Amino acid sequence: MTGTAPREAREAILDVRDLVKHYPLTQGVVIKRQVGAVKAVDGVSFELRRGETLGIVGESGCGKSTVAKLVTSLEAPTSGSIRFKGEDVTRLSGRALKAVRRNIQMVFQDPYTSLNPRMTVGDIVGEPFDIHPEVAPKGERRRAVRELLDVVGLDPEYVNRYPHQFSGGQRQRIGIARGLALRPEIIVADEPVSALDVSVQAQVVNLMERLQDEFDLSYIFIAHDLSVVRHISDRVGVMYLGKLVETGTESEIYEHPTHPYTQALLSAVPVPDPGAEAGRARIVLEGDVPSPANPPSGCRFRTRCWKADERCAREEPPLRIPDGAGGGAGSGGEGADGPGRGTAGNAARHPSACHYAEEKARIVPD
Ligand SMILES: Nc1ncnc2c1ncn2[C@@H]1O[C@H](COP(=O)(O)OP(=O)(O)O)[C@@H](O)[C@H]1O
Ligand code: SF4
Ligand SMILES: [Mg+2]
Repeated sequence: MTGTAPREAREAILDVRDLVKHYPLTQGVVIKRQVGAVKAVDGVSFELRRGETLGIVGESGCGKSTVAKLVTSLEAPTSGSIRFKGEDVTRLSGRALKAVRRNIQMVFQDPYTSLNPRMTVGDIVGEPFDIHPEVAPKGERRRAVRELLDVVGLDPEYVNRYPHQFSGGQRQRIGIARGLALRPEIIVADEPVSALDVSVQAQVVNLMERLQDEFDLSYIFIAHDLSVVRHISDRVGVMYLGKLVETGTESEIYEHPTHPYTQALLSAVPVPDPGAEAGRARIVLEGDVPSPANPPSGCRFRTRCWKADERCAREEPPLRIPDGAGGGAGSGGEGADGPGRGTAGNAARHPSACHYAEEKARIVPD
């Protein structure tokens, strides 16, 4: 955590607005007709500032990987914009797109399947240089790969080994080395530690923090578990069924959550202090996550929310700073950002997509 300007004062390197990705649902074998759409991402906005980590959290299927694929230009959005240093990536093609892609790299979830088993570690880590030879000309690749292995804490002598000769944690280090090869400014890490043993998770997270400082990286760090991203994140966005439902700083989200979904997720995270654990009510979410092809009307969380009433079925709650949260209500816009956002001491002043957002959860259904 180095750097001179505080992270909240730095410029946004990435500005995502109203991002939508609908996958068409088709019927018919020969003549395909569209009968609907999976609304994987359905209007997501956030900013990423230089050198910061934005954690994105939510249950499986809520659209996290789709956001990752859109931001890294692996897929094109249905609508919305993704501005990298002011330029809308979704409108670029050819060389300009290639240049932006170089700068926004992905680290994938599963180190067991994301590395080609038939390639040596040296070839895996050096493969990005095939597309961008200007970063490491042919004669220097070997050296560049060895440097990258060293930087992620692997023995450079391993270059000729194959992925199966490594542990899960080491494989994820290989994936990170590959992500670093082109010296990107942004790394989108899609559940980078979810497939790893808990003891190894911390090592990989610590490595990523060190690399962030060393290379001035900005991270989007995705996880399905709030506890995983807490340590590394400056700000966190909580996703539910294709939308962000609450965004804020680490302390706003973990100590002062106002959205029932965030409160439920947090109530399931074990706390180290047994006294605190005993005094806590656990919110058990009932029912399954609805299908993103047919989300509930109004608030998408209402089918599982203990506070839901008929307004929730009728009216979709926008992501904004709740009314009466200490002035400036409604000025927060729809993003995980906004210069006038809440400060410590006025903790509930962060965006929450709930008609009845409040810090103290009515935890027990009444
Ligand atoms: N290529 C695709 N075609 C159709 N549906 C998809 C596709 N990719 C993802 N989905 C659907 O979009 C939703 C969000 O998926 P995903 O972004 O992978 O969620 P997460 O990473 O949060 O688990 C899921 O319902 C998933 O089945
Ligand atoms: S808007 Fe209604 S259903 Fe949605 S989270 Fe708030 S109280 Fe629950
Ligand atoms: Mg995923």
